Amino acid sequence: MQLLLHWMGPLLALLLLQPAGSLEVQCPVPTIPHGWLNPAQKNLSAGSTAVLECEAGYVPVGSSSVRCLSSGRLQPRAPACTRGRCPSPPAVDYADRRPPYELLVGSTITYFCRHGYTLIPGVSPTTTCLKNFTWSAIPALCQMVQCPSPAIINGRETSAKQEKYSVGQQVEFQCNPGYTLWGSQRTQCWSDGTWKPPVPYCDKVCVPPPLITNGQHTGLRTELFPYGTEVKYSCAAGLSLIGDESIYCTSEDGVNLTWSGPAPVCRVVRCPRPVVAQGRMDVSWHTFPYGTSVRFSCNEGFVLHGSAESHCVADGSWQPALPKCQPVLCPKPQVANGKLTSTDQAWYPINTTVTFVCHEGYHHFSGDGEAALKDSWTATCLADGNWTPLPKCKKEDDADVCREVAYIQSIVSDCHVPTEDVKTLLEIQKLFLEIQKLKVELQGLEHILH
Ligand SMILES: *[C@@H]1O[C@H](CO)[C@@H](O)[C@H](O)[C@H]1NC(C)=O
Ligand SMILES: *[C@@H]1O[C@H](CO)[C@@H](O)[C@H](O)[C@H]1NC(C)=O
Ligand SMILES: *[C@@H]1O[C@H](CO)[C@@H](O)[C@H](O)[C@H]1NC(C)=O
Ligand SMILES: *[C@@H]1O[C@H](CO)[C@@H](O)[C@H](O)[C@H]1NC(C)=O
Repeated sequence: MQLLLHWMGPLLALLLLQPAGSLEVQCPVPTIPHGWLNPAQKNLSAGSTAVLECEAGYVPVGSSSVRCLSSGRLQPRAPACTRGRCPSPPAVDYADRRPPYELLVGSTITYFCRHGYTLIPGVSPTTTCLKNFTWSAIPALCQMVQCPSPAIINGRETSAKQEKYSVGQQVEFQCNPGYTLWGSQRTQCWSDGTWKPPVPYCDKVCVPPPLITNGQHTGLRTELFPYGTEVKYSCAAGLSLIGDESIYCTSEDGVNLTWSGPAPVCRVVRCPRPVVAQGRMDVSWHTFPYGTSVRFSCNEGFVLHGSAESHCVADGSWQPALPKCQPVLCPKPQVANGKLTSTDQAWYPINTTVTFVCHEGYHHFSGDGEAALKDSWTATCLADGNWTPLPKCKKEDDADVCREVAYIQSIVSDCHVPTEDVKTLLEIQKLFLEIQKLKVELQGLEHILH
């Protein structure tokens, strides 16, 4: 019937319009973006119809049948093609899409893995609306997240052990006897495949450090004392801390933990004011509690015997023992070729004056080479333990040399003759004298031969 009408329409129009004698009515066909009429023609004669066809991905707007009315107008007036749509995108296991959905040809939709699932590596989580109004193929996108089996050192899992740990799974732990748990007793598998809070561990700890009377330690608010923890003790005001100020948690056998030593004690410890006769202290304190150090020195004319420094120790004594300042003594003076005429003793106190005489044939000479007129000479013991210059007893012959030396010294100093020149002159004189001596010896030899 439709086919009949299809053919009958134009025929009818021809039959109806032609006898009217008027011009044949035509409908001009506009350009149709992304589409065309089938059969293709520039004009459509009144009463005829054509099919509107669209390029791939496009669909006719409204009816796909276009008709030329007797008024010369097309129906629809402006046939058009529009971008087509895909049906609702397919569901993907363990994934969701986010609205708003754009379902036009060419648009792309992204999927997201649900909580507890993660995108399979290397897979693109998108699909595109194709020109044939279907969605491009989507492979499996998401896989279940798993946490590694939680391993606890020196402890165990108290919740039932699983083969696989998926997101949200909770696990509880317990330490082996003698160990203490570090971290959270309970943990949960998170969507990033990790345990939060982290899996705890079990370790030995030291017992709380000993409490002391009249003192305290820095670990009072600490609950656990793991290996290496240090606590520091302090005493109430006025008390001395005897022993090590700090102890730390350590191990002697590599297994069990103990404190490095006993806790110190707090006591009143006062040492007596240190008194060293004829001595001085480097401090001007009036109190000498435990730990005080004092240095000593002696007054002039006295020498320190013992340790110059002493410490106030736990039993209230000074260690090492306080030194003594003893008077300085001069040793018995030794004079070559001479002897003492005053009392002979091994040591002489300061300010003692002793007298000497030179042996027979020896004389005392002073610095200028002149022989002393006196036969006896004195020396005095000084505060530093030395004697005033001791006499020098020399032979008569040596006296000439001494005089000569004194003479040369006077020339050098009086005439400002450089020492080097004096030396050269003396060398020449020495050579001259030696030549003369040789001549005399030679003469003597000739005498004997003849
Ligand atoms: C189409 O119609 C227009 C006016 O309606 C006319 O001028 C033109 O000649 C026609 N074209 C053809 C190919 O018949
Ligand atoms: C749509 O087009 C794609 C690629 O052009 C093709 O793989 C797919 O089979 C087509 N779908 C249908 C239902 O024709
Ligand atoms: C550690 O301490 C425990 C309990 O006091 C004891 O049984 C064990 O022998 C100790 N280990 C070592 C290596 O000494
Ligand atoms: C030694 O003599 C000096 C000067 O007379 C004096 O000041 C000093 O006190 C004396 N020393 C001793 C230890 O007698």
